[in-house]
Amino acid sequence: MSLLDLNPDQLLSTTRAVRKRLDLTRPVPTELIRECVAMALQAPSGSTIVTMRFVVVRDEAKRRAIGEVYREVYAKYKASPGYPGNPAGDPERDRIQARVAASADHLGEHMGDAPVLVLGCNEGRDRASATAGLGNVLPAVWNFMLAARARGLGTAWTSMHRSREQDVADIMGIPYDTVAQAVLTPLAYTKGTDFKPATRPDPESVIHWDTW
Ligand SMILES: Cc1cc2nc3c(=O)[nH]c(=O)nc-3n(C[C@H](O)[C@H](O)[C@H](O)COP(=O)(O)O)c2cc1C
Repeated sequence: MSLLDLNPDQLLSTTRAVRKRLDLTRPVPTELIRECVAMALQAPSGSTIVTMRFVVVRDEAKRRAIGEVYREVYAKYKASPGYPGNPAGDPERDRIQARVAASADHLGEHMGDAPVLVLGCNEGRDRASATAGLGNVLPAVWNFMLAARARGLGTAWTSMHRSREQDVADIMGIPYDTVAQAVLTPLAYTKGTDFKPATRPDPESVIHWDTW
């Protein structure tokens, strides 16, 4: 295992949603995926009960089938009024949103081309408990993404496939009645590793000191 030379703050601030810079041609070693899952399992979970599941999709036909579901869901999103690529009248914000939208559009077309797809899931006794416990898998998936970044791999948190979750469950043989899907991410080496911190709001704009 060789890790990029990133201090903790650099890792946290440069783990971006990677879409256009995924290297779709380079295979991802299985051992690296196992290491990322090992790091994911260090994340907190309720009562330290491990209900999170990682469905790792290397099989090309299954990747393409999930990619097709994602493409269809994305096309509907793109045609909706909430699509971030639609100008909202603030030139500065519109410029940033147009860039994010172009990146998201690219993934909409190429999700199934990634060498690996990963579904972060939560298993419960039944559908209701699986869904209620989705919070258990979220820190683990973010740990997975940080561990991937440290290894020169890129990810992009997506969830819109959940409107067709049953279809994805059927493709993968995931038992829909007891396993809820939270996140779908591509996993691939990145083209270059020089990712930058994003522009985000001033912390003061989101902090409520001592009272709301
Ligand atoms: C809950 C959640 C759902 C998301 N769903 C999608 C998605 O379906 N498709 C997508 O392209 N990006 C999705 N994203 C990624 C964000 O759009 C991404 O963070 C944003 O593009 C900013 O990129 P950055 O994190 O590199 O700054 C999602 C992120 C979160 C936290």
